[in-house]
Amino acid sequence: MKKSELVEKLTELILEVPMGSCIVELGTYHGKSALFYYKLVGNKIDIFTIDDFDLEREDWLGQELKPEDENIFYENVTGANAKIKVCRMKIEDAVKRWTRSIGFLLWDVGEADRLKEDLEAWSKFIIPNGVVVVKDMPKNIFHTFEVIEELIESESWERLYHLNGVSFLRRLK
Ligand SMILES: C[S@@+](CC[C@H](N)C(=O)[O-])C[C@H]1O[C@@H](n2cnc3c(N)ncnc32)[C@H](O)[C@@H]1O
Repeated sequence: MKKSELVEKLTELILEVPMGSCIVELGTYHGKSALFYYKLVGNKIDIFTIDDFDLEREDWLGQELKPEDENIFYENVTGANAKIKVCRMKIEDAVKRWTRSIGFLLWDVGEADRLKEDLEAWSKFIIPNGVVVVKDMPKNIFHTFEVIEELIESESWERLYHLNGVSFLRRLK
């Protein structure tokens, strides 16, 4: 799979996000994805990114969060003059206070065995036709593939694409 195919699909879906709903990223790190969305929608659609920048957490894919990573995120966002809203808290706490309708949600948490719980909590905010993109690796290291199969079987979600371990889902009802 060419990287550009993934970027192409993401671009199409981000540009479809309806006004009034918002874009949410679970797992910020340096904010690369949030900035990519910002370049596409500017200030027309609110973008929220959630991360607690917890240095005690075990690393993902050989990457360990370092104290400077949070600053790199703020520098990236400030450098791009991007109005991205940061929720610096645990994903599981952020959802308890959440009120906004979500048109597009990226799950990029980098932790195994938590997608099911996250989707159960966040999916009530996802609008019909809203999109969820789940970032895993081709070898399913975060154990997301089984959860996604269950969702498809429930007939509440449609699989749009599966590219190189990244799953694209659309909410049907
Ligand atoms: C794979 S990285 C995110 C990469 C980012 N989306 C990008 O495009 O560069 C995963 C991030 O999720 C955050 N994270 C993991 N579990 C979390 C939790 N329970 N609450 C908040 N943040 C969490 C980590 O701190 C880490 O920065």
